[in-house]
Amino acid sequence: MSQRVKDKVALVMGAGSIGPGWGNGKAAAVRYAREGARVFAVDIQESAAQETRQLIEAEGGQCIAFQTDVSQAAEVDACVASCVGQFGRIDILHNNVGLFATGGVEDVTEAEWDHLFAVNVKSMYLTCKACLPQMVRQRRGAIVNISAIAAMRHVGYSCISYAAGKAAVNQLTRSIAVDYAQRGIRANTILPGLIHTPLVEHFLGEEYAGDVQKMIERRRQIIPMKHFGDAWDVAAAALFLASDEARYITGAELVVDGGVTCSVA
Ligand SMILES: NC(=O)c1ccc[n+]([C@@H]2O[C@H](COP(=O)([O-])OP(=O)(O)OC[C@H]3O[C@@H](n4cnc5c(N)ncnc54)[C@H](O)[C@@H]3O)[C@@H](O)[C@H]2O)c1
Repeated sequence: MSQRVKDKVALVMGAGSIGPGWGNGKAAAVRYAREGARVFAVDIQESAAQETRQLIEAEGGQCIAFQTDVSQAAEVDACVASCVGQFGRIDILHNNVGLFATGGVEDVTEAEWDHLFAVNVKSMYLTCKACLPQMVRQRRGAIVNISAIAAMRHVGYSCISYAAGKAAVNQLTRSIAVDYAQRGIRANTILPGLIHTPLVEHFLGEEYAGDVQKMIERRRQIIPMKHFGDAWDVAAAALFLASDEARYITGAELVVDGGVTCSVA
């Protein structure tokens, strides 16, 4: 361990995982803790946040688990207040929550569109709005928002609400980066590509009638590196952007995709 975020407080939204194994949020929370941060692990599922807390504590780290729906303003405000109340500060806001949905414009219902935007986009506005006053007081803070390569490319199937929502996340982050650049606060986005996490099996397995192996093989073929990334690849990128090593980096989009977005094949 090199203690790259020693003594920082990391507030991780969506710190659990939707199924067994390592999701992006769970891995990021554990990685921050391994590198010396105290972690406030937030999830809509109490049990998922508690699992992450147990993993961190088992390794000797410090973590508080907290149940919150990040699409609800009052819950987000209470969550941020609790983090500041218990840990005294917020150095890193890591926004991992993001639902996935397939379908084109004619497939997605208005209610589905609104729900996805509430959970994937409005949540990041709410969490940033709640954390920024504390970061301004500290004159220090790093926001890491998890987007997706679907924000910049058609990924081979329609996922119109997801793609548009992630594009909104990118511009939200760029705007915050500029607005707060003189106040010691940085905001960056990570664009994961094909990452093998429980979320992928949960949502995309259905597209392949539950044949997860077939899905994995089809998707693997379009990756120039010919293998999937995993949650630790996304966590490593987040750690860098959240750490002082990235002190001159703000408003950036870090693509973590094994070369997918560079390839036309
Ligand atoms: N896995 C991939 O291939 C991939 C690719 C690109 C981007 N991403 C992005 O990564 C992020 C998710 O990754 P993951 O592997 O951690 O997913 P995950 O679904 O396993 O974990 C996210 C956690 O968020 C929680 N959550 C869901 N709704 C919530 C809400 N309203 N409030 C609070 N918590 C909530 C879930 O309970 C879950 O524990 C998303 O932003 C997704 O768009 C993933």
